[in-house]
Amino acid sequence: MGLINRLRQFLPYFGTLPGTWIVVALGAIVGATTEPMIPALLKPLLDRGFQQGSLAIWTVPVTLLLLFGVRGLAGYVSQIGLTKITNHGLLAMRKDMFNTILDGHMKMFADQSSSALSNTVVYEVQNGSVMLVNSLLSLTRNGLTLMALTGYLLYLNWKLTLIVAAVFPAVALVMRILTRRLHSLTKTNQHATDDLAYVVEENVMAHRDIRLYAAQAAQAERFNHLSEKLRRLAMKSTVAGAAMTPMTQMLAAVALSAVISVALIQSASSGTSVGEFVAFVTAMLMIIAPIRQLSEVSSPITKGLAALERALALIKLTPAETEGEFIKVRANGDIRFEQVNVQYSPESAPAIRALDFSIKSGETIALVGSSGSGKTTLVNLLPRFVDMTSGRIFVDNHDIREWSLKSLRSQYAFVSQHVVMVNDSIAANVSLGETIDRTKVIQCLDAANLLTMIESLPEGIDTVVGHNAMQLSGGQRQRLAIARALYKNAPILILDEATSALDAESERAVQNALQNLMHQRTTLIIAHRLSTVMHADRIVVMNAGEITETGTHQELMASNGSYSRLYQLGLGEPTPV
Ligand SMILES: Nc1ncnc2c1ncn2[C@@H]1O[C@H](COP(=O)(O)OP(=O)(O)OP(=O)(O)O)[C@@H](O)[C@H]1O
Ligand SMILES: [Mg+2]
Repeated sequence: MGLINRLRQFLPYFGTLPGTWIVVALGAIVGATTEPMIPALLKPLLDRGFQQGSLAIWTVPVTLLLLFGVRGLAGYVSQIGLTKITNHGLLAMRKDMFNTILDGHMKMFADQSSSALSNTVVYEVQNGSVMLVNSLLSLTRNGLTLMALTGYLLYLNWKLTLIVAAVFPAVALVMRILTRRLHSLTKTNQHATDDLAYVVEENVMAHRDIRLYAAQAAQAERFNHLSEKLRRLAMKSTVAGAAMTPMTQMLAAVALSAVISVALIQSASSGTSVGEFVAFVTAMLMIIAPIRQLSEVSSPITKGLAALERALALIKLTPAETEGEFIKVRANGDIRFEQVNVQYSPESAPAIRALDFSIKSGETIALVGSSGSGKTTLVNLLPRFVDMTSGRIFVDNHDIREWSLKSLRSQYAFVSQHVVMVNDSIAANVSLGETIDRTKVIQCLDAANLLTMIESLPEGIDTVVGHNAMQLSGGQRQRLAIARALYKNAPILILDEATSALDAESERAVQNALQNLMHQRTTLIIAHRLSTVMHADRIVVMNAGEITETGTHQELMASNGSYSRLYQLGLGEPTPV
C-alpha cells in the first residue's frame, strides 16, 4: 500500500479538525516563505547597504525583527494546532479500541495476550500518533521550505539549481531502501515487545508458583532471551535509520561543492554581483537543514505508521459480536439445545457432541461428569461466551442468535469457576452494571452470608476491594460473586462450581441463599458436592461432550450406571481453591 493510502486510513481520527489543519498548513506555508527572505535580504544589503546613503539604516533591523517575528509566530501556532490534532485523534482511537475490548468478538482474547492489548491501547497509539503527526508537520514544513528556497535559487540562477536537482533521485533511492528495512524491523520489534510484556505478565501472575517450584532460572532465561532479541533489534533499527542522515548529507555535500565550483567559474565570465553570489550560497547552505530533516523524517513516519496500523487493526479486524434484534425484558427461562456441537479447534476433539436437551422454566438441573467432560463449555454457550460449531440453542423458543446480546445476557446471573472482581467498592462490585441500591446490596450480602464480615471492615460496603479483590479469601470472593448474582435477580441462574471454595459450614449457610435464589428460576448448576446435586429436579451426567444419563438422584442410583459410580467416588469432590 502506498504511503498516501496508508495515511488515508487515519483520516477518520486525525482528519476531523479541518479548521485546525488549515491553520497548521498556513503556519507551515508562512514559515517556509520567510526562509528565502533571509538570503534575499542579504543581496540589497551587500550590494547597496555598504554604499553610504542608498539604504536607510533603520530598514535592516525592522525587517529582520518583522521576519523573525512572523516566522516564530507561524511556528508556534502550527505546533499548538498540531498537538490539538494529535491528541484529538489519539483520544478517538483509544476510545474505539477500548470499545472493541468491551464489545468486540471474544476471539480477540484468545488471539492476543492481555499485555499485548494493553500495550497497544496505552503505549503504541500514544507513541505512534506523536511520531506520525510530528513527522508529517516536519515533512510539510521542510518540504515547503525546500520548495521556497529552490524557487529562490532558480530565480537567482537556474543553471546552478539544476545541478542541485540532479542529486534528488539518488536521495530518494537511499530513503526508499532504508525505509523498507526499517518497516520490517519495526514490525518484528512490536512482536518482540509483546512477548517480553507477556513474560512479565505471566511471572507476575504466577509469582508464587515460580518461587515454590524454583523456576526462576528458566524464567530469567526466557526473559533474557527476549530482552537480548530486543537489544539486537534496536541496534539494527538504529544502524538502518542512522545511515540515512550521513548518506543524504554526503549527497548534499556533493551538490554543494559542484554548485560553488560552477558559480565561481560563472562569476568570472558573467558579471554576477557579490550580493547575488552570497545570497545564492546562503540559500544553498540553508537548503541543507530542510534536506537533512526530510531525510530524518522517514524513520519516525515508518515507526509511527506501524504503531498506529496495529491499533487500527485491533479496531478493524476484530469483528463485532453478531446478534439479532429480539428483545425481552424478562425471559421465562425455557432452554432447548438442538444437535449442538462445539469444537474449539479443528485438531481437537469436540468439547460438546450432538447435544439434544431441554430445560423447562423454573427447573433446577445439575450437571455432573468428570473433569473435561464439557460442563463449563455447555453453560458458556448460553450467554454466547462460546460459539457453537453447529446446532441451535433456544431461550424462550427464540434462537439465541436472534436475541439482542444485551437482552440475552441480561437474562442470566452467572457465578463461575473463576470469580473476577473489579477494583472498586464492595457495593459497586455487588451491583455491577446497575446503580447502587445500598439497602439491596446489604440484603444480598446478608443472603450470601457475607454481611458480618463486610460490616467489620472499616468502611463497610464502601471498602475498595483492590486488584481482583485479593484482600478477600477465596471463599469470601465466591460469596461476593453469589451476592452479585442475587443482586442481578435474573430469570436464569448458572452456577459453575459456585461453592467449590467454601468450607462445609459456609456452604451450608450459602446453600440457603442459593436455594432462595434458585426458587422459581431456571437453574443450571455444576457441582461436585452431593448435597447440592441431590436436590436438583434432574441430574445430567456428561462424559466426553455427550449426555450419558439423565434423571433424578433416585432414578440414577437405581439404574446403577455411571452416576452411581461417580457417586461412590464421592462425585470427585474438588479440593478447595
Ligand atoms: N477455551 C478453550 N479452548 C480450547 N479448548 C478448550 C477451551 N475450553 C475448554 N476446552 C476443552 O474442552 C473440553 C471441555 O472443557 P470444559 O471446561 O467444558 O470441561 P468441564 O467439564 O467444565 O471440566 P471441569 O470439571 O474440570 O471444570 C476440554 O477437553 C478442554 O480441554
Ligand atoms: Mg468446568
